[in-house]
Amino acid sequence: MNSSALTAKCAFGSAYGLPRRSVLLSLLLALFCLPSSGSLWCQDVGEAAPLKLMPLPRSTEMGAGHLSLDAHFKAGFAGDHDARLDAALARMITRLDRQCGEIRRSQYAGGSGGSQVLTLKVATPGDAVQSVDENESYQLMITSTQAKLTAATDVGAMHGMETFLQLVTIGDAACSMPAVTIDDEPRFRWRGLMIDVSRHFEPVSVIERTLDGMAVAKLNVFHWHLSDDQGFRAESKKFPRFTEAASDGQFYTQDQMREVVAYARARGIRVVPEFDMPGHTTSWLLAYPEYGSGEDIKELPTVFGIPQAELDPSNEKTYKFLDAFVGEMAEIFPDAYFHIGGDETEGKGWLANPRISAFMQKKGFKAPPDLQAYFNQRLLPILAKHGKKMVGWDEILNPSLPKDIMIQSWRGEASLSQGAVQGYSGILSAPYYLDAQKTSEMMFLADPVPADTKLNSAQQQLILGGEVCMWSEQLDSETVDSRIWPRTMAIAERFWSPQSDRDVANMYRRLRLASLELEDVGLTQISGPEKLRRSLFGSRDPELLNVFASVIEPVSFHERYQGQHTDGFTSLDRLVDAVAADPPGRQEIAQEIDAVVNHARAGNRQAAEMELRRRFTEWEQVAPVMEAWAHRSPRLSDTEARARQLGALGQVGLESLAYLDTHTVPASGWQDAQMAVVADADKPLALVRFVFLPALRELVQAAAANFDEVQSESNHLRYGGHYRIWLPPFETARLRSSVKALESITVKSH
Ligand code: ACM
Repeated sequence: MNSSALTAKCAFGSAYGLPRRSVLLSLLLALFCLPSSGSLWCQDVGEAAPLKLMPLPRSTEMGAGHLSLDAHFKAGFAGDHDARLDAALARMITRLDRQCGEIRRSQYAGGSGGSQVLTLKVATPGDAVQSVDENESYQLMITSTQAKLTAATDVGAMHGMETFLQLVTIGDAACSMPAVTIDDEPRFRWRGLMIDVSRHFEPVSVIERTLDGMAVAKLNVFHWHLSDDQGFRAESKKFPRFTEAASDGQFYTQDQMREVVAYARARGIRVVPEFDMPGHTTSWLLAYPEYGSGEDIKELPTVFGIPQAELDPSNEKTYKFLDAFVGEMAEIFPDAYFHIGGDETEGKGWLANPRISAFMQKKGFKAPPDLQAYFNQRLLPILAKHGKKMVGWDEILNPSLPKDIMIQSWRGEASLSQGAVQGYSGILSAPYYLDAQKTSEMMFLADPVPADTKLNSAQQQLILGGEVCMWSEQLDSETVDSRIWPRTMAIAERFWSPQSDRDVANMYRRLRLASLELEDVGLTQISGPEKLRRSLFGSRDPELLNVFASVIEPVSFHERYQGQHTDGFTSLDRLVDAVAADPPGRQEIAQEIDAVVNHARAGNRQAAEMELRRRFTEWEQVAPVMEAWAHRSPRLSDTEARARQLGALGQVGLESLAYLDTHTVPASGWQDAQMAVVADADKPLALVRFVFLPALRELVQAAAANFDEVQSESNHLRYGGHYRIWLPPFETARLRSSVKALESITVKSH
């Protein structure tokens, strides 16, 4: 599809110097290009060759011509630079070489004719320990003969290198990039990803490839949730029982944690460790019961949920213990922030313990949150002694705490604003819980500081950004990538790019390409689920499995929990684990149906209809095969019915298209029967759901509705001799009133 041509045609005729007559055409097309239509065809911003940059830079100005990246390419530094940047450039050259070939040779085969095409200039390496205020800006200037990357710090330069790599285009067996000037810096300073490694452990290799993905996404904080009820994952030499008793042997050694910190720093990413306290501490108290409230813990829990075990805030020895532990961890994690968790501390253990209850009474504490605030007050000087600032979940927000703590908002946007109004800095996580299985679109549009915020500008400054959260009750190292990516890329764009960047269709176009790039750096969000599907279905034809997988997605964390009672022993190798949230099929089908139902240009409508017909036919054909395969697999017993439903839904789609095509009004009862098929497919089953049902309902309704036909003989609308637009009655009335003065169009009722 030639998007720029379409864009031109989606604008008003006069702006393009079209003849007067075609004002009618423009008028009609303007009707179809209403922003609310969400149509890909009409929303493309109209770049000559659309860039695939993600996250979108703050400012991009296209130049003339292309810079060729051939066997003469060389990149070098102007001025001083450190070893970190040398290594970053080497990684960039390797990735460029994989795309374009011969780049490593021209870079490194000394004096063999390579001429310096890319010059990097960095003012300073940046802070020895990357701070939240690190200058991450960069400027990239590409002309047809050379490229210049300038940045204030190493971190900015690394972001610029990622952008440089995304500019590469391959065509006619040659690599090049368009001439362009990019001036970029992040909107938010804190752009994080949290991974819970307690419920399911992730090996260092998984963490490191995640950091590679984060660098592509220009995320800059890895929040490492290292302890929770189900396991304590950080080696402590002072308190070895943490990992001896409470890790099932799955933990990071201190050397490994240092390795991860260094790996992250090399990519411009801070590491903020979280040791969740005073609740979510069953693993702590299995190892060191003397610091608890008297709970009798015999083993690590395998069930998930709100815990019963809490550290004892009334015991002075608890603080000595924490002082020693925080001090040890502070030496491994140099970041200024230390995450103390603080979520979901119900205080059941406190209330059940007469000594702690008496302590609460003596201090005048009415309820567990008061005791938790006391605990945090005691923790603050310990953190400060070890050079750390406190960050914690919503629940640590309490006016008795000083303003230099930071709140991570997980229970809703409101708590973030409440904190800011009281003068606390904060980051937003509530909309970015990946296990809620929301679409990229929903999370991309959720803004830490939305345009209609009620916060004043000083309060807005306290919102440092946001963090994506990946809790791990329902994933393991095989499936973690497909849970995190590519959706996190869309959220990363929200954190980085201007507030005005809200074009969902454009975001999805780039997200699909970014997903391939993420696989190229070592993530497995595409290949991992494919592998699992092959294993589930006994190495059957992957193409057929992809048809099925492209239109289903996992249910949310809570639905899965209700359906499966997921616990630590649940095998994470079912269909639900072998499909990704928000597969491209959802948006593609929605656009195609929108084009058919909401009257896109004739050519688009026909292309969309053909594609839909192909899909629906494919579903009908694939369904019985999938059903038979599912029947033979012990792990797929509930998938059979889902496969059968796919076939039935394909039939619903084909029938709807047939009615629309033949302009025939279906017999009474047809719509109800189709809606019943769709409703049946909407019920919980196999822990997955179809992603296209709202759009299919729309198609059925359109087929059943009484449409009007509009015919025009305009040359500019010539398509198969005439142009047809299908409009529901209310639209027809609008069109009639708009065009009644123009005689070249006839509007007739069907
Ligand atoms: C949380 O989700 N309990 C922070």
